[in-house]
Amino acid sequence: MTEEVFKAQLNPSNFSDFRVGWKSPSNIALVKYWGKKPVQIPANASLSFTLSESCTSTEVQFSLAEASSFDLVFEGKAKPSFHPKIQDFLDRILPYCSFLSAYHLSIETSNSFPHSSGIASSASAMAALALSICSLERELGGLQNEALFFQKASFLSRLGSGSACRSVQGPMMSWGEHPDLENSSDLYGTVFEAELQEVFKSYKDTILLVHKGQKSVSSTAGHDLMKGHIFAASRFEQAQMHLTQLKSVLQNGDLEHFIRIVESEALSLHAMMMSSHPYYILMQPNTLAILHSVMRYRQETKIPVCFTLDAGANVHLLYPESNQTEVQAFIEEELSLFCEQGAYLSDAVGKGSEKIV
Ligand code: DP6
Repeated sequence: MTEEVFKAQLNPSNFSDFRVGWKSPSNIALVKYWGKKPVQIPANASLSFTLSESCTSTEVQFSLAEASSFDLVFEGKAKPSFHPKIQDFLDRILPYCSFLSAYHLSIETSNSFPHSSGIASSASAMAALALSICSLERELGGLQNEALFFQKASFLSRLGSGSACRSVQGPMMSWGEHPDLENSSDLYGTVFEAELQEVFKSYKDTILLVHKGQKSVSSTAGHDLMKGHIFAASRFEQAQMHLTQLKSVLQNGDLEHFIRIVESEALSLHAMMMSSHPYYILMQPNTLAILHSVMRYRQETKIPVCFTLDAGANVHLLYPESNQTEVQAFIEEELSLFCEQGAYLSDAVGKGSEKIV
């Protein structure tokens, strides 16, 4: 499939005013996307759990206008600092949604997670906005096919932020061509289709908030540093191999192997940051303290709890729902002490985006 199928030729004058809203979750990658080619093409395939609690809700009022424009309210207030990212996104998707040039977008958006929690909202935010634009396209007569609707929403989300293309549906989505994943694509995310073992359908993710502020190096800058990285080729190969192994594990429920792959991915991601030029460290001392505690606790109790990291200092603690009581006590008694003001967010695998208006 090429990008051409996503080019909409529709007549905007069919509709003068249209209001729609979508709630999209964040996602946590088990196999990480780190490194890309222009435009937003991943260097390797990735696979994530879609979350259920950490979400962005976005409502858009589309009104016919002389030229494309937008205004934005974030959690009840104007947010000019978000404008450049949204403008870039709208410019980038215009060739695929030419009808947008006839609309003014009034965007109202909010996150379910606390502001400045250090949780990246670009995935959930871009997915919710892309879905809203696809709803307008459907209203204008396009995207009548359900599968194509979600494919295009994921395609557009990807152009806003790579990982956003995995926030459209659930419970797991992959993105990036991979020989073992049928229908996988570099252009959009697809629902992981192999039969998941029950345990993974209700997996828990507690997000331990080690550092709530802005991170020192953005993901976009980090991806860029993979260009010419001395370990790049091996890293991309490792990710492809991990995905092959993880596919089997998700079907056979081997939690020990699951843990080995997931933790190795997290540490490899940060190893890339620590070995790029210039090198940098996003983990904080308390991040490391948590990783050590988790490994020790697992060894002592045999409870299959493991960690993963995104491009920041916070730790995602992953464990089966059946171990929730013990792990919750471990978090309260030990891990929360390493969190900023003891803060953490309780999340779990979710179903994907939901239309709210
Ligand atoms: C470490 O999707 O935030 O979370 O495409 O530049 O917006 P851009 O990057 P982004 O990168 C996410 C990196 C990651 C791994 C992952 O989610 O796969």
